[in-house]
Amino acid sequence: MKSLLGIKGLGSDQLSDLIGLGVQIAQQGRSTDDSMRGLTVGTLFFENSTRTRLSFELAAQKLGAQTMTFVPEHSSMSKGETLRDTVLTVAAIGADILIVRHREEGVPGQVEEWTGRPVVNGGDGTNEHPTQAIADCVTLVNRFGSIEGLNIAIVGDVVHSRVAGSLIQALPMMGAEVTLVGPGEFLPQPGETDLDAVVGKADVVYLLRVQRERGADVDPDYTERYQLTEARAARMHPEAVVMHPGPMNRGLEIADQVADGPRSLILDQVANGVPARMAVLSRIAEGIG
Ligand code: CP
Repeated sequence: MKSLLGIKGLGSDQLSDLIGLGVQIAQQGRSTDDSMRGLTVGTLFFENSTRTRLSFELAAQKLGAQTMTFVPEHSSMSKGETLRDTVLTVAAIGADILIVRHREEGVPGQVEEWTGRPVVNGGDGTNEHPTQAIADCVTLVNRFGSIEGLNIAIVGDVVHSRVAGSLIQALPMMGAEVTLVGPGEFLPQPGETDLDAVVGKADVVYLLRVQRERGADVDPDYTERYQLTEARAARMHPEAVVMHPGPMNRGLEIADQVADGPRSLILDQVANGVPARMAVLSRIAEGIG
């Protein structure tokens, strides 16, 4: 694999391989792998991040690579340097693999074209966030043994969510049945608007953040209709779980008691971000030789 720009473009064999390797690394616990020794991973996050950037950096370090953290606010972009000159500069300093997050769709692919280096999409606009989807698949396999046949409700601000953009492709590829739930203006096509109609049937209720920074606005009754409250969670079947990619709007799409409750896999999703990203970096490093 040269780069990972999206789930789109991956075959089911490749996706399955990345998830399987992520599961294997997660189950091994502490890693002594140094297959990336001598390589440098540069993280270029033009939008803020806690989970994705830190877990990529830790993943790279666990594989023996060095990391370079580019911080736009502290960079020469403040003197007018262009995006293209900036990424060419980071590559010239010595980043062998670039992890790129940007508010505009397609920028990671553009960085790959400009630099010729392997690029991983750390989230581009409302398009894709492929490593979040892979981390979530690792989490599901760890919990259920397989994704095949799971009934997964993705709830909330689907249209603004790059996580949903990747999950909507990855989960069916792995054999899950996905139902999108939310008010009509948050759904990419006409879908299920009644959360109460699906909450008792789902194996997974996957909540999405309302993305106000991307223009999402909610009606005053959003919480009443779409929040996963303690009462709604109590109607889920005994083995069903709750997921959210974070960061959460507590009290909007999810109640505190549910986020912190026994069904929540939210911190498992965060933890599995490291082995999932180790799997992606390992496969890219194999291509570098
Ligand atoms: N889920 C996710 O992408 O979180 P961060 O924005 O903190 O990286």
